[in-house]
Amino acid sequence: MLKVLVTGANGQLGKSIKAAERNYRDYKFYYTDIEELDITNYEETEKFILNIQPDIIINCASYNAVDKAEYDHQKAIEINSKAVQSLAGMAKKHQIGFVHISTDYIFDGQKGTAYTEMDDPNPQSKYAHSKYIGEQAVLTSKPNAAIIRTSWLYSEYAHNFVKTILKLAQTKDELRVVNDQIGTPTYAGDLAETILIMIPSINEFGGVKTYNYSNEGLTHWAEFAEAIIDFSGLDCMVIPVSTEEYGLTKAARPAYSLLDKSKIKNEFNILIPDWKESLKKCINNLEKEQDKHE
Ligand SMILES: NC(=O)c1ccc[n+]([C@@H]2O[C@H](COP(=O)([O-])OP(=O)(O)OC[C@H]3O[C@@H](n4cnc5c(N)ncnc54)[C@H](OP(=O)(O)O)[C@@H]3O)[C@@H](O)[C@H]2O)c1
Repeated sequence: MLKVLVTGANGQLGKSIKAAERNYRDYKFYYTDIEELDITNYEETEKFILNIQPDIIINCASYNAVDKAEYDHQKAIEINSKAVQSLAGMAKKHQIGFVHISTDYIFDGQKGTAYTEMDDPNPQSKYAHSKYIGEQAVLTSKPNAAIIRTSWLYSEYAHNFVKTILKLAQTKDELRVVNDQIGTPTYAGDLAETILIMIPSINEFGGVKTYNYSNEGLTHWAEFAEAIIDFSGLDCMVIPVSTEEYGLTKAARPAYSLLDKSKIKNEFNILIPDWKESLKKCINNLEKEQDKHE
């Protein structure tokens, strides 16, 4: 029985792992969020870990408020960098496998073709910088670990672009959405399944390995919004605008952040669904959930 400790488990990815766990009867999961396990409290975290003695820690805890981080950089650093350094250090010290999630935003978006794991990061925002420092902390701590960079994460849970668009499209006739930031949405349910497939191998890694993961395909936020509205049968027009026309968001975002997924697909022999296919699945699940409550 593999003991798996999940931090930040009330967030999108944590809840998606919980939803996927029924297919993994050989794992025993311990789900925690900030109330039970605040990863910035290093002493309590180590006590908790020693008490449970997990084989694997999946760190889903994160500070993800991209624009807010521009003036709350310290908090982003505490959670995304320093606490990650502490967790990775504990993973190394106690020989626990470690899964850490990072972001496409560590790239500057100037490459123009898909980013591989070998490309140099060049974070352009405070959030991206804090996540980049977190990655570096895992690399220098050297536990058996997977750093998985993902992009545009959404799910049935917590806050995300899909749920925001669904809500807005119910009350507005039109929505302005940017069409010059290109990347790929990631359904957290797909990423959760992949992590659960990966975890038995992590303690054999002999160090830190970095992977990219998103759904397949390529889009921009305006097309993503159109698909959300289309698949949910709502009536709302998407007006594509440039980032400049949209008006300034506080944090800079990469213009192009397609992730090359060859490494994770080849090493774990997985098929990744196209973003539209997974979006339909998520919207169907949200509709089923809504029907239950009506
Ligand atoms: N969301 C995206 O679009 C996106 C894109 C690329 C990469 N990622 C990465 O994917 C990972 C999972 O993201 P997500 O969307 O699932 O995140 P999420 O929904 O924001 O969940 C993060 C969870 O961590 C909790 N948390 C915050 N500080 C904590 C602390 N000190 N100790 C323990 N838990 C704490 C949060 O609680 P509160 O809600 O109370 O703060 C929340 O429940 C993150 O590493 C993120 O950077 C996300």
